[in-house]
Amino acid sequence: MHSLLIKISRFKPSIIDPPAFSTYELTPAPDWTVLDALEQIRIHQEPSLMYRRACHHASCGTCACTINGVERLACKTKLADLGTQTITLEPLHCFQRIGDLVTVRSTLFQFMQPDWSCLQPDEKRDDHDLLLSGRGQSITRFENCIECGCCVSACPVVRKNSHFIGPAVLSAINQEMKKNPSTENDLLSIAASPDGETLCQRAVACSRVCPTGVYPARHIKALRDQRKRTGNTP
Ligand code: SF4
Ligand code: SF4
Ligand code: FES
Repeated sequence: MHSLLIKISRFKPSIIDPPAFSTYELTPAPDWTVLDALEQIRIHQEPSLMYRRACHHASCGTCACTINGVERLACKTKLADLGTQTITLEPLHCFQRIGDLVTVRSTLFQFMQPDWSCLQPDEKRDDHDLLLSGRGQSITRFENCIECGCCVSACPVVRKNSHFIGPAVLSAINQEMKKNPSTENDLLSIAASPDGETLCQRAVACSRVCPTGVYPARHIKALRDQRKRTGNTP
């Protein structure tokens, strides 16, 4: 493969502050992913480069970032598939940025209740990942969501209104209702709150970027329909 330019948004509080782009040139192998490129740049060109990764196979969600303007998993995105000579990497939007491509995703969980049955203990992450994830002590996950944050970053409503519950949590609410119908009233009340489903503008950006097929917009539509059926309105 010919050489590529990897343009990375750098940020280090009080050192590279405000953020600025740095560009690195490399000649990748044909099957390299964006994560491979980041590893090579860190090893050979920029040891202070910050990004997050754990599983390397699209199951932990930690490597999510904005690649050529679209939220994707760095470990799953092949450089060759992007089809551009210059590849631009930025952190996810809407999350606190702590350095370069690293953000804290704890806000993904702020509206979830630990006793929801769709949340399951995560046996795969160790204390180091827990610390880096910034999620506190209760590591949990729901269904096939890998808590990557792509849907939240892509949602135009979250970008304007940080109070919006957001697509990942609304999906979890709908999952929980299906699994545990006795919780329906309480959950519909959360979904119908002023920061809930009614703020969704149906842009479907969340479903487009979700790497694991959760399709958050479908869950949000199901919630909306159920809310109308039961008369649970704000
Ligand atoms: S469908 Fe709703 S939640 Fe999904 S991106 Fe659009 S506004 Fe956000
Ligand atoms: S719903 Fe999809 S995009 Fe959103 S956090 Fe979960 S896996 Fe990521
Ligand atoms: S490193 Fe785990 S999803 Fe990419």
